[in-house]
Amino acid sequence: MSAIREVRRRTVRDIRNAKGKTPVVCLTAYTAPVAKLLDPHVDLMLVGDSLGMVVYGFTSTLPVTLDLMIAHAGAVVRGSSRALVVVDMPFATYQESPAQAYRNSARVMAETGAQAVKIEGGVEMAETIAFLTQRGIPVMAHIGLTPQSVNTLGGYRTQGRDDAAAVRLLADARAVEEAGAFSVVIEGTVAKVAAEISAAISIPTVGIGASAECDGQVLVVDDMLGLFTDFTPKFVKKYADLATVVSEAAGAYAEEVRARTFPGPEHVV
Ligand code: KIV
Repeated sequence: MSAIREVRRRTVRDIRNAKGKTPVVCLTAYTAPVAKLLDPHVDLMLVGDSLGMVVYGFTSTLPVTLDLMIAHAGAVVRGSSRALVVVDMPFATYQESPAQAYRNSARVMAETGAQAVKIEGGVEMAETIAFLTQRGIPVMAHIGLTPQSVNTLGGYRTQGRDDAAAVRLLADARAVEEAGAFSVVIEGTVAKVAAEISAAISIPTVGIGASAECDGQVLVVDDMLGLFTDFTPKFVKKYADLATVVSEAAGAYAEEVRARTFPGPEHVV
């Protein structure tokens, strides 16, 4: 037997089995080169519809299209070999009916090579999650602050603030678990509620702006790399300051071009 063990890609089963054992490490990714850099470090890469705001400069995720998600998801799959790749289903591509969700999710799976899709919603999406999982499409659910519902939520507000809201969130978590989701993102939710949900259900919870007691954590990669200079949400920890690195590099390049010191003799043929 060869001494070299091939590193295989993580499966939804690996993520489900991590519950109670090891924290699930997750970051968003939108491009092949960044996926390649993240791949050795994370268990799960999420091609989030946050790309609408992060990459395309929209003010919400609502304008993101299926074609856009498919293009970026294909790039992330090609740039990775180890992490599970999950693709966000964008607004209005799955909410209408289980059949609509199946048709569009099947396109994502077939055209990108990703291993699962993510859809926002709890109790109201349980029928759709069951429809997809029973037909070969693994689903990661997303409850709490669901950005595609920003207009009905009345803004990007922390969820689970009172007892009734906490009860509703627990019902959402139980419904998506029962429907067959392999994992659930809990976003922008009071820490105590997210911790209670994590203890109550059998599938891993992945928190963002939720609780350290979730079974895993996810951050938007551009946020944790410090690529933004304006607003940083409280739940984001910057592990690098790439905004400064990019700005200084661009400044140094501009200076050298203007001074005619770039290209130097070593850069020309
Ligand atoms: O779109 C996204 O990046 C997400 C994460 C923030 C969970 O849904």
